[in-house]
Amino acid sequence: MNHMISIAIDGPSGAGKSSLARRCAEAFGFLYADTGAIYRTVGLAAIRAGIDRKNAEEVSGLLPTLRIEMRYNEEGEQRMFLNGEDVSEEIRLPEVSIAASDVSALSIVRQYLMEMQRSLALSNNVIMDGRDIGTVVLPNADLKIFLTASAEARADRRVKQLEEKGIKEAFETVLADIRYRDEQDSNRETAPLRRADDAVLLDTTELNFDESFAAMSQLILEKFCIEDCRETAEKTE
Ligand code: DC
Repeated sequence: MNHMISIAIDGPSGAGKSSLARRCAEAFGFLYADTGAIYRTVGLAAIRAGIDRKNAEEVSGLLPTLRIEMRYNEEGEQRMFLNGEDVSEEIRLPEVSIAASDVSALSIVRQYLMEMQRSLALSNNVIMDGRDIGTVVLPNADLKIFLTASAEARADRRVKQLEEKGIKEAFETVLADIRYRDEQDSNRETAPLRRADDAVLLDTTELNFDESFAAMSQLILEKFCIEDCRETAEKTE
């Protein structure tokens, strides 16, 4: 099999990983894989089942009853299905973010979802984002980027994103959620959020979306030096 190219993007909640990775995937012709969406789907299932999301036994009892599928529609958009139901919108609710962070701290959950993530990268050129892509899921990724920004900048962006979807949340509530998740995602025992030794650090606190996109595109161009990509990037500017 030909070697597939993989780009791993890790970083804390709200650093802009999804929007930037999606945009770069479009520009450079990669498949975009949002792994947070998979953890969110398990988080949603745990909420619906009314179980203790931090209890490994309860959550491991739930896992075999779940059919979690990641499908791509004709526009190349990733959709998440839980037991056949499209839950792609529902998993974006703030309470599901917290539930996702809770279940993702359990090693049984991480193990259960590993195969789905790795098999995508085996058969596609992917830009995959998450928390442990460069450190655990794809340790041999061709390019690793650790994307970060201050907690305040991330909370501010998340409030605006939610507003665009018609969801109103106070800045303080969102900031508290972000801090809760930062703390939990970075300090869990299994696959904590951390920058891989060979990851390039990209701090977007002072950058707007277009500037962040330009910076990330530059890293991809420098790494792969692909003329086709350069043309594609110029066309999308
Ligand atoms: O990227 P996100 O906010 O959609 O992720 C939701 C939660 O899932 C996040 O708090 C941590 C967890 N997660 C993880 O542990 N590992 C990943 N690769 C992706 C997400």
